[in-house]
Amino acid sequence: GIMPDTVQPDSVLELDNARVTRALFRSLGNSPQAFNVFSLEQPIIITIDGPAGTGKSSVARHLAARLGLDFLDTGAMYRAAALIAIRQRIAITDHEPLVAAVERADIRFDWSMDPPGVLAFGETLGDRIRKPDVTAIVSPVAGIPGLRRLMVQRQRHIASLHPRLVTEGRDQGSVVFPDAKVKFYLDATPEERARRRAAQLSAAGMSADEPRLLREIIERDRSDMSRADGPLVCPEGAVVIDTSAMTIERVIDELEARVRAKAREP
Ligand code: DC
Repeated sequence: GIMPDTVQPDSVLELDNARVTRALFRSLGNSPQAFNVFSLEQPIIITIDGPAGTGKSSVARHLAARLGLDFLDTGAMYRAAALIAIRQRIAITDHEPLVAAVERADIRFDWSMDPPGVLAFGETLGDRIRKPDVTAIVSPVAGIPGLRRLMVQRQRHIASLHPRLVTEGRDQGSVVFPDAKVKFYLDATPEERARRRAAQLSAAGMSADEPRLLREIIERDRSDMSRADGPLVCPEGAVVIDTSAMTIERVIDELEARVRAKAREP
Protein backbone atom coordinates (compact mmCIF):
# COMPACT_ATOMS: atom_id res chain seq x y z
CA GLY A 1 0.00 0.00 0.00
CA ILE A 2 0.96 3.67 -0.21
CA MET A 3 2.27 5.10 3.05
CA PRO A 4 2.52 8.87 2.78
CA ASP A 5 3.80 9.21 6.33
CA THR A 6 6.95 7.31 5.44
CA VAL A 7 7.88 9.76 2.64
CA GLN A 8 11.31 11.21 3.38
CA PRO A 9 11.24 14.69 1.88
CA ASP A 10 14.58 15.95 0.60
CA SER A 11 13.41 19.25 -0.80
CA VAL A 12 10.89 21.90 0.15
CA LEU A 13 8.83 20.98 -2.89
CA GLU A 14 8.70 17.31 -1.95
CA LEU A 15 7.89 18.25 1.63
CA ASP A 16 4.87 20.15 0.32
CA ASN A 17 3.89 17.19 -1.84
CA ALA A 18 4.13 14.89 1.14
CA ARG A 19 1.97 17.25 3.14
CA VAL A 20 -0.63 17.49 0.40
CA THR A 21 -0.70 13.70 0.04
CA ARG A 22 -1.10 13.27 3.79
CA ALA A 23 -3.88 15.85 3.93
CA LEU A 24 -5.61 14.13 1.02
CA PHE A 25 -5.42 10.74 2.70
CA ARG A 26 -6.72 12.23 5.92
CA SER A 27 -9.64 13.88 4.19
CA LEU A 28 -10.49 10.61 2.42
CA GLY A 29 -10.22 8.73 5.69
CA ASN A 30 -12.36 11.27 7.47
CA SER A 31 -15.47 10.96 5.34
CA PRO A 32 -16.95 7.64 6.37
CA GLN A 33 -20.16 8.20 4.38
CA ALA A 34 -18.24 8.23 1.12
CA PHE A 35 -15.45 5.83 2.09
CA ASN A 36 -16.38 3.27 4.67
CA VAL A 37 -13.14 1.39 4.08
CA PHE A 38 -9.78 2.27 5.57
CA SER A 39 -6.32 0.81 5.78
CA LEU A 40 -4.44 -0.18 8.91
CA GLU A 41 -1.33 1.28 7.23
CA GLN A 42 -2.76 4.79 7.40
CA PRO A 43 -3.23 6.95 10.48
CA ILE A 44 -6.04 5.27 12.40
CA ILE A 45 -7.45 5.75 15.87
CA ILE A 46 -9.33 2.96 17.61
CA THR A 47 -10.95 3.86 20.94
CA ILE A 48 -11.88 1.46 23.73
CA ASP A 49 -13.93 2.84 26.59
CA GLY A 50 -15.79 1.27 29.47
CA PRO A 51 -15.77 0.83 33.24
CA ALA A 52 -12.99 -0.72 35.34
CA GLY A 53 -12.66 -4.49 35.38
CA THR A 54 -13.78 -5.21 31.82
CA GLY A 55 -10.25 -6.20 30.80
CA LYS A 56 -10.05 -3.05 28.66
CA SER A 57 -6.36 -2.41 29.26
CA SER A 58 -5.25 -5.91 28.45
CA VAL A 59 -7.59 -6.09 25.45
CA ALA A 60 -6.38 -2.73 24.11
CA ARG A 61 -2.72 -3.71 24.51
CA HIS A 62 -3.12 -7.03 22.71
CA LEU A 63 -5.35 -5.59 20.00
CA ALA A 64 -2.72 -2.91 19.31
CA ALA A 65 0.02 -5.54 19.11
CA ARG A 66 -1.98 -7.71 16.70
CA LEU A 67 -2.78 -4.77 14.43
CA GLY A 68 0.70 -3.23 14.63
CA LEU A 69 -0.60 -0.05 16.29
CA ASP A 70 0.61 1.86 19.35
CA PHE A 71 -1.27 1.56 22.64
CA LEU A 72 -2.26 4.43 24.94
CA ASP A 73 -3.43 3.75 28.52
CA THR A 74 -5.08 7.04 29.50
CA GLY A 75 -6.03 5.74 32.96
CA ALA A 76 -2.29 5.62 33.69
CA MET A 77 -2.14 9.38 33.11
CA TYR A 78 -4.89 10.05 35.68
CA ARG A 79 -3.19 7.61 38.05
CA ALA A 80 0.08 9.52 37.59
CA ALA A 81 -1.76 12.75 38.49
CA ALA A 82 -3.16 11.11 41.64
CA LEU A 83 0.33 9.93 42.61
CA ILE A 84 1.68 13.46 42.15
CA ALA A 85 -1.00 14.69 44.61
CA ILE A 86 0.07 12.04 47.13
CA ARG A 87 3.81 12.67 46.78
CA GLN A 88 3.54 16.45 46.89
CA ARG A 89 0.91 16.34 49.64
CA ILE A 90 -1.53 18.41 47.63
CA ALA A 91 -5.15 17.99 48.78
CA ILE A 92 -7.26 16.77 45.87
CA THR A 93 -9.69 19.58 46.65
CA ASP A 94 -6.91 22.11 45.87
CA HIS A 95 -7.57 22.01 42.15
CA GLU A 96 -5.34 24.84 40.99
CA PRO A 97 -2.09 23.77 42.70
CA LEU A 98 -2.71 20.17 41.70
CA VAL A 99 -3.28 21.00 38.03
CA ALA A 100 -0.17 23.23 38.10
CA ALA A 101 1.91 20.40 39.60
CA VAL A 102 0.64 17.92 37.01
CA GLU A 103 1.45 20.40 34.26
CA ARG A 104 5.00 20.75 35.61
CA ALA A 105 5.33 16.96 35.79
CA ASP A 106 4.95 16.84 31.98
CA ILE A 107 3.23 13.44 32.01
CA ARG A 108 4.33 11.35 29.04
CA PHE A 109 5.17 7.77 28.12
CA ASP A 110 8.40 5.87 27.58
CA TRP A 111 7.58 4.24 24.25
CA SER A 112 10.62 1.97 24.42
CA MET A 113 8.82 -0.04 27.12
CA ASP A 114 6.15 -2.66 26.44
CA PRO A 115 3.57 -1.57 27.46
CA PRO A 116 4.75 2.07 27.32
CA GLY A 117 5.49 3.25 30.87
CA VAL A 118 4.07 6.49 32.22
CA LEU A 119 6.61 9.17 33.25
CA ALA A 120 6.21 12.15 35.60
CA PHE A 121 9.05 14.63 36.04
CA GLY A 122 10.96 12.33 33.67
CA GLU A 123 10.73 9.43 36.13
CA THR A 124 9.17 6.04 35.34
CA LEU A 125 6.33 5.43 37.81
CA GLY A 126 5.90 1.72 37.13
CA ASP A 127 3.52 -0.27 39.34
CA ARG A 128 3.37 2.51 41.91
CA ILE A 129 0.34 3.95 40.09
CA ARG A 130 -1.62 0.68 40.66
CA LYS A 131 -1.29 0.74 44.47
CA PRO A 132 -4.44 1.08 46.62
CA ASP A 133 -3.65 4.63 47.81
CA VAL A 134 -3.60 5.84 44.20
CA THR A 135 -6.69 3.82 43.22
CA ALA A 136 -8.56 5.25 46.22
CA ILE A 137 -8.29 8.87 45.02
CA VAL A 138 -7.93 8.62 41.25
CA SER A 139 -11.63 8.91 40.44
CA PRO A 140 -12.14 12.27 42.22
CA VAL A 141 -8.81 13.46 40.76
CA ALA A 142 -10.08 12.49 37.28
CA GLY A 143 -13.16 14.61 37.98
CA ILE A 144 -11.20 17.87 38.19
CA PRO A 145 -12.20 19.84 35.06
CA GLY A 146 -8.86 21.68 34.64
CA LEU A 147 -7.00 18.40 34.92
CA ARG A 148 -9.20 16.73 32.31
CA ARG A 149 -8.60 19.66 29.93
CA LEU A 150 -4.86 19.15 30.35
CA MET A 151 -5.09 15.39 29.81
CA VAL A 152 -7.31 15.68 26.74
CA GLN A 153 -4.81 18.10 25.24
CA ARG A 154 -1.89 15.75 26.02
CA GLN A 155 -3.74 12.73 24.64
CA ARG A 156 -4.39 14.52 21.34
CA HIS A 157 -0.75 15.56 21.23
CA ILE A 158 0.35 11.96 21.82
CA ALA A 159 -1.99 10.85 19.01
CA SER A 160 -0.37 13.40 16.67
CA LEU A 161 2.99 11.74 17.37
CA HIS A 162 1.53 8.20 17.34
CA PRO A 163 -1.17 8.48 14.68
CA ARG A 164 -1.78 4.71 14.45
CA LEU A 165 -3.19 4.16 17.88
CA VAL A 166 -5.44 2.03 20.08
CA THR A 167 -6.42 4.31 22.97
CA GLU A 168 -8.23 3.15 26.07
CA GLY A 169 -10.08 5.03 28.82
CA ARG A 170 -13.47 6.49 29.67
CA ASP A 171 -13.85 9.45 27.27
CA GLN A 172 -11.70 8.47 24.31
CA GLY A 173 -14.51 7.88 21.80
CA SER A 174 -16.87 10.48 23.23
CA VAL A 175 -14.67 13.52 23.95
CA VAL A 176 -11.03 13.08 22.97
CA PHE A 177 -11.33 11.36 19.56
CA PRO A 178 -14.97 11.69 18.43
CA ASP A 179 -13.84 11.06 14.81
CA ALA A 180 -12.08 7.77 15.64
CA LYS A 181 -12.41 5.16 12.88
CA VAL A 182 -13.56 2.36 15.18
CA LYS A 183 -15.00 2.78 18.68
CA PHE A 184 -15.61 0.06 21.21
CA TYR A 185 -17.43 0.11 24.53
CA LEU A 186 -16.61 -2.85 26.78
CA ASP A 187 -18.96 -3.68 29.61
CA ALA A 188 -19.48 -6.45 32.18
CA THR A 189 -21.63 -6.95 35.26
CA PRO A 190 -20.22 -5.38 38.46
CA GLU A 191 -20.13 -8.87 40.05
CA GLU A 192 -18.00 -10.28 37.24
CA ARG A 193 -15.70 -7.26 37.35
CA ALA A 194 -15.25 -7.67 41.11
CA ARG A 195 -14.43 -11.37 40.56
CA ARG A 196 -11.79 -10.45 37.96
CA ARG A 197 -10.20 -7.80 40.19
CA ALA A 198 -10.08 -10.26 43.10
CA ALA A 199 -8.39 -12.86 40.87
CA GLN A 200 -5.90 -10.23 39.65
CA LEU A 201 -5.03 -9.20 43.19
CA SER A 202 -4.61 -12.79 44.43
CA ALA A 203 -2.43 -13.58 41.42
CA ALA A 204 -0.26 -10.62 42.42
CA GLY A 205 -0.03 -12.00 45.96
CA MET A 206 -2.31 -9.34 47.48
CA SER A 207 -5.35 -10.03 49.62
CA ALA A 208 -8.71 -9.58 47.93
CA ASP A 209 -11.95 -8.86 49.75
CA GLU A 210 -14.47 -9.45 46.97
CA PRO A 211 -17.58 -7.88 48.56
CA ARG A 212 -15.52 -4.80 49.30
CA LEU A 213 -14.16 -4.74 45.74
CA LEU A 214 -17.74 -4.94 44.46
CA ARG A 215 -18.76 -1.95 46.59
CA GLU A 216 -15.72 -0.01 45.37
CA ILE A 217 -16.46 -0.84 41.73
CA ILE A 218 -20.07 0.29 42.04
CA GLU A 219 -18.94 3.50 43.76
CA ARG A 220 -16.26 4.20 41.13
CA ASP A 221 -18.77 3.63 38.29
CA ARG A 222 -21.18 6.05 39.93
CA SER A 223 -18.43 8.63 40.33
CA ASP A 224 -17.05 8.16 36.77
CA MET A 225 -20.52 8.26 35.17
CA SER A 226 -21.92 11.21 37.09
CA ARG A 227 -19.12 13.76 36.74
CA ALA A 228 -19.94 16.83 34.67
CA ASP A 229 -16.74 16.74 32.62
CA GLY A 230 -15.92 13.74 30.38
CA PRO A 231 -18.19 11.26 32.17
CA LEU A 232 -18.07 7.57 31.32
CA VAL A 233 -20.63 7.14 28.54
CA CYS A 234 -21.08 4.79 25.63
CA PRO A 235 -19.86 6.90 22.68
CA GLU A 236 -22.14 7.38 19.70
CA GLY A 237 -21.39 4.79 17.05
CA ALA A 238 -19.48 2.50 19.42
CA VAL A 239 -19.62 -1.28 19.12
CA VAL A 240 -20.80 -2.50 22.54
CA ILE A 241 -19.34 -5.77 23.81
CA ASP A 242 -20.59 -7.37 27.02
CA THR A 243 -17.53 -9.29 28.19
CA SER A 244 -19.20 -10.86 31.28
CA ALA A 245 -19.17 -14.39 29.86
CA MET A 246 -16.13 -14.01 27.60
CA THR A 247 -12.45 -14.78 28.13
CA ILE A 248 -9.98 -11.95 27.44
CA GLU A 249 -8.74 -13.99 24.47
CA ARG A 250 -12.22 -14.12 22.92
CA VAL A 251 -12.75 -10.39 23.46
CA ILE A 252 -9.48 -9.63 21.67
CA ASP A 253 -10.44 -12.00 18.80
CA GLU A 254 -13.83 -10.32 18.51
CA LEU A 255 -12.38 -6.79 18.38
CA GLU A 256 -9.66 -7.78 15.94
CA ALA A 257 -12.21 -9.44 13.64
CA ARG A 258 -14.43 -6.35 13.72
CA VAL A 259 -11.56 -3.98 12.94
CA ARG A 260 -10.28 -6.17 10.11
CA ALA A 261 -13.77 -6.54 8.68
CA LYS A 262 -14.01 -2.76 8.54
CA ALA A 263 -10.49 -2.24 7.22
CA ARG A 264 -9.32 -2.53 3.68
CA GLU A 265 -6.68 -5.22 3.95
CA PRO A 266 -3.29 -4.18 2.52
O1 DC B 1 -8.65 2.54 33.82
P1 DC B 1 -8.06 2.94 35.15
O2 DC B 1 -8.66 2.18 36.31
O3 DC B 1 -6.57 2.91 35.18
O4 DC B 1 -8.49 4.47 35.35
C1 DC B 1 -8.15 5.18 36.51
C2 DC B 1 -9.16 6.27 36.79
O5 DC B 1 -9.06 7.31 35.82
C3 DC B 1 -10.63 5.84 36.81
O6 DC B 1 -11.24 6.33 37.98
C4 DC B 1 -11.24 6.50 35.63
C5 DC B 1 -10.33 7.62 35.29
N1 DC B 1 -10.18 7.81 33.85
C6 DC B 1 -10.87 8.83 33.28
O7 DC B 1 -11.61 9.52 33.97
N2 DC B 1 -10.73 9.08 31.96
C7 DC B 1 -9.95 8.30 31.20
N3 DC B 1 -9.82 8.56 29.89
C8 DC B 1 -9.23 7.24 31.78
C9 DC B 1 -9.38 7.01 33.13
